[in-house]
Amino acid sequence: MRETEKIWMNGELVAWDDARIHVGTHGLHYGSGVFEGIRAYETPNGSAVFRLTDHLKRLDNSARLLGMDLPFSVEDLRLASHELIAVNGLPECYLRPIAFFGYGELGVSAVGNPVDIVIMSWPWGAYLGEDGLKKGIRAKISSWQRIGPNVIPHVAKATGVYLNSMLAVTEANRAGYDEAILLTAEGYVADGSGENVFIVKDGVIYTPDLSTSILPGITRDEAFMCGTAAEVTPLREVDDVELGVGPVTLELQAAYIDTVRGRSERWAQWLEYAERTPAEA
Ligand SMILES: Cc1ncc(COP(=O)(O)O)c(C=O)c1O
Repeated sequence: MRETEKIWMNGELVAWDDARIHVGTHGLHYGSGVFEGIRAYETPNGSAVFRLTDHLKRLDNSARLLGMDLPFSVEDLRLASHELIAVNGLPECYLRPIAFFGYGELGVSAVGNPVDIVIMSWPWGAYLGEDGLKKGIRAKISSWQRIGPNVIPHVAKATGVYLNSMLAVTEANRAGYDEAILLTAEGYVADGSGENVFIVKDGVIYTPDLSTSILPGITRDEAFMCGTAAEVTPLREVDDVELGVGPVTLELQAAYIDTVRGRSERWAQWLEYAERTPAEA
């Protein structure tokens, strides 16, 4: 990770090295946190964050699902994100907001613990590598099963859930693959360790729905992964079965890149440009 100058922490901009927490922090012990992964892109009209408000609303919703009251509103966090991009001088960066139960009591119950909230920003290139974006990646079906919705609310992007993703991607990496695909308890495709999964069959795109029970597995056809970090990445191989890189994937990838880089009118509303402060105007 490349260090940047400032981190936004509980309402203040602090130096990178000063953004510290106590070892007794509840979130460190029990994974009781929620987070987001967001990308800002440099466009012809300045820095623009892709669907910033939607990401921050998801953060707020994830927190509610964990019974956590965020001490800042979505609008506060939106302004803080833009402020951080400006102060770090990084019009193109990855943004990582994270909120967690802090230092107070260390019983498993989070009742009474304060909530800390932080936003980091740093430059982060292609998540699965530049080569992966162009030529596709090789994935392994994980021996780890995706955590079920009655274990932890699966629409919450919760830090503790990512132990499941960490085990899966580490297993895949150790076996020489780029990424893992996790299946549900019933054996249906759920998602990647950090991406959603899609296949293209006879020109139609399929992806598991939120109950993850519609997709009868991976077929020999086009497949790709997508996520804010991974963008649109072709999936050229699953468990040593060659799928190749297909035309629908490449078309979608180009459309996505045109959108996030401010070259597309169609989804222009998804780009949240930095607003000029009165002093800059
Ligand atoms: C497990 C998992 N699935 C899917 C996604 C894709 O979500 P998004 O497009 O909001 O980045 C992510 C990325 O955060 C993820 O971690």
